[in-house]
Amino acid sequence: MRLTPELAAAFAGVRRELFVPEGFHRRDGSRVEPGDPAFLPSVYRNDVLVTKLNGDKPISSSSQPSLMAMMLGALDVRPGMRVLEIGAGTGYNAALMAALGAEVTSVDVQEDVAARARSALDRAGAAGVRVVAGDGYLGVPDFRYDRIIVTVGVAGFSPHWFGQLAPGGFVMAPVEHAGHHPVLAARPGDPMTATVVCSSGFMAAAGPLGARHSGSHPPSAGILAAMAETAPPRWASPLDAIVYRDLWYAAGAWDHRATLAGLPGREQNHLALLDATGTGGAVIPADGSVLAGGPEAERYTADAVALIDRWWSLGRPPMSAWQVSLALDGDPAAPIQVPRTWTLPPPRR
Ligand SMILES: C[S@@+](CC[C@H](N)C(=O)[O-])C[C@H]1O[C@@H](n2cnc3c(N)ncnc32)[C@H](O)[C@@H]1O
Repeated sequence: MRLTPELAAAFAGVRRELFVPEGFHRRDGSRVEPGDPAFLPSVYRNDVLVTKLNGDKPISSSSQPSLMAMMLGALDVRPGMRVLEIGAGTGYNAALMAALGAEVTSVDVQEDVAARARSALDRAGAAGVRVVAGDGYLGVPDFRYDRIIVTVGVAGFSPHWFGQLAPGGFVMAPVEHAGHHPVLAARPGDPMTATVVCSSGFMAAAGPLGARHSGSHPPSAGILAAMAETAPPRWASPLDAIVYRDLWYAAGAWDHRATLAGLPGREQNHLALLDATGTGGAVIPADGSVLAGGPEAERYTADAVALIDRWWSLGRPPMSAWQVSLALDGDPAAPIQVPRTWTLPPPRR
């Protein structure tokens, strides 16, 4: 991807190592301490740095820089804008937005994480950033923001955010869809709608932002054993990662059983349709084959093949083509705006 000169200057000017002073875990689980020879090379790899675990579950991190760059590019932050960030984490993304000239308020639900982000921002000399501890569901109602960026995976948009936007502002958030968190951009309106910015993988938010709802996909499954190939590969070379995500997005729009699953011996995660009981389902790898298992393997195979056919016959729509309508759902005491229907523009004649 090509960075704007302003974004390139922000990445060049903000030192990421200042935001992980106590070390981190890499994606493969290995630990890197500040004194290790691998420290700086790992900090400047295009990868997530996990800074806090609960058991073996990551609960805070510095996100993958290419994803941050994509989101910041689409956020279109300009000097003087007020930005609210949900998920302060290490403070690195907030520092980048400050370097772009924004006045940033960043909130994190974990007090110790918020405190460490504050110290890191001080160390880095980032001006114009304030870190608040609290649940981002409520936003931070002290200002009207030109942009709200959410850097943790959510099930939907908090209605509070729309009430805290300045005229012309919008909210960008990674919203759960079929086992991933594609990033959506939403503006206040009636009805509420959103567009798809890019694919992403984020840890899930705590509290009402992470609530399950009537349209939730099945939770991602671990490794599915006992699946056998029931339809042969459709493509001689597998879809590349971006196009596979496009198929995945469409599957999630059309079928509520769509989610993410692993297969034995394969590193990659796969698009899967899972049945509610967890006894069976089908997996669609990137070569377009189908693997199915359980008592309804035949029906699952037919449904998976029909999904691929539908996506193919529509000209393989990219995820960015979808319009998403939102509706209130989730915890009735703290509802969120969740994706409810997905539409594609009519085909061009
Ligand atoms: C991936 S990290 C954010 C990365 C961060 N922007 C950075 O630059 O390092 C996600 C953060 O979201 C926080 N979080 C989770 N649920 C939250 C919630 N409901 N409100 C605010 N923050 C939340 C976590 O504590 C975690 O620190």
